[in-house]
Amino acid sequence: MVLTFSATEYSNRQSAFLGQLPDDSIVIIPTNLQAVRSNDTHFPFRANSYMLYLCGWGEPESVWIATNSGGDWITSLFVPPQDTKAEIWEGRRAGPEGAAKNWPVDEAHSILNLNTIVSSMLGNCDNVYAIRGLNLEIDSMLDVYEKEVLNPKPHLDSLRVIKSEAEIELMRESAELASRAHVLAMRSGKPGVGEWHLQSIIESCFTSNRSHWAYPSIVGGGENAAILHYNSNCDAVEDGDLVLIDAGCEIEGYASDITRTWPVNGNFTEAQREIYDLVLNAQLAAIGACQHGAHWISFHQAASRVIAQGLIDLGILDCTLEEAIGDPKEFDGPYRNYFMHGTGHFLGLDVHDVGGGRQGDKDAGPILKSGMIVTVEPGLYFGSWRTDVEIPEKYAGIGVRIEDDILITEDGPVVLTSSCPKEIGDMEAIIGQGS
Ligand code: GLY
Ligand code: MN
Ligand code: MN
Repeated sequence: MVLTFSATEYSNRQSAFLGQLPDDSIVIIPTNLQAVRSNDTHFPFRANSYMLYLCGWGEPESVWIATNSGGDWITSLFVPPQDTKAEIWEGRRAGPEGAAKNWPVDEAHSILNLNTIVSSMLGNCDNVYAIRGLNLEIDSMLDVYEKEVLNPKPHLDSLRVIKSEAEIELMRESAELASRAHVLAMRSGKPGVGEWHLQSIIESCFTSNRSHWAYPSIVGGGENAAILHYNSNCDAVEDGDLVLIDAGCEIEGYASDITRTWPVNGNFTEAQREIYDLVLNAQLAAIGACQHGAHWISFHQAASRVIAQGLIDLGILDCTLEEAIGDPKEFDGPYRNYFMHGTGHFLGLDVHDVGGGRQGDKDAGPILKSGMIVTVEPGLYFGSWRTDVEIPEKYAGIGVRIEDDILITEDGPVVLTSSCPKEIGDMEAIIGQGS
């Protein structure tokens, strides 16, 4: 385990965070615990993003603590102690000595001393900030603490949402690797290909580049493309069907998130092309709206207007644009029958990153600022099995989503995933062409 960023970058983050808090406080940020997958086998461990953000520490069960007495902050890590027998089975540990020497904290202690040390700290401060729900031992200590426990997340989130140059560089790498993986999948497209096979191409590209998925890959052929969170990836993709792949990787904790939809035989049908062109136009309009200073909601509204008008033009909705959009603040009209999710989310250490502005994009949300990274991912879904709404016969069974990762800058949006083709001609030229 080595530090991802310079010690100075972490110290700056810690100072910017702690500088927002009053004196005579304690802050408790636990990481995740190991999670059981089956009997004595665990899920691969992934540290909590707040822990990664503050100090880059990647071992499980640990806790980052900052205390302030009379104005000076002292930071510490409580970590699993070195233990040869445990390390033979589970891997090497840095231990408190390694943590104190090589990580950006003032002190380190064994996690076995957490209760004793933290209980006495709790009695000696005016304000307690803690992330609850991750570590039972911490939660039980806080349960017996009599004053209000404050939430540190808003203070951290306001920092995490603006990426540093070093973070942007990693996210650019993550976006480029995921783009390469999608291109390899397109090159392997052919009628009858298994969804699982395309998944394996994507994920082997991640693994062979010392990365891994940031969220379970979605590979949905035919009607499965119209299921938003499909990820069983167990059907073959038939001749004439589209396949929707929503897959991204993680590099040093930083996610990419790309969706492409393409015909497995290399040629869009007329109906598929009509829906694809509409989603692409909506996505391009939304990317254009990702401007420094714009309201969060504006890129969702830009995509929605294009989709609503397009659904009218294709004869799928029989109403005016105003009626299709619905309440001018809510954007809740009948176009939502076919485009029912938000247009994007923040992206960073979490694939659905902190900073606000999700919930189907209904709230005004934050103002977009230089250094933020968002996804832009409109879609249209016409699952023929649906009973909630009429599905036009011509488009029945089609699902299309197009998703890119966008860096907001003062000079306009930068598409970090631009090396992944999305124009129909560019995709048709490589589908099934081999690597
Ligand atoms: N892959 C999850 C999403 O697109 O939001
Ligand atoms: Mn996605
Ligand atoms: Mn996404």
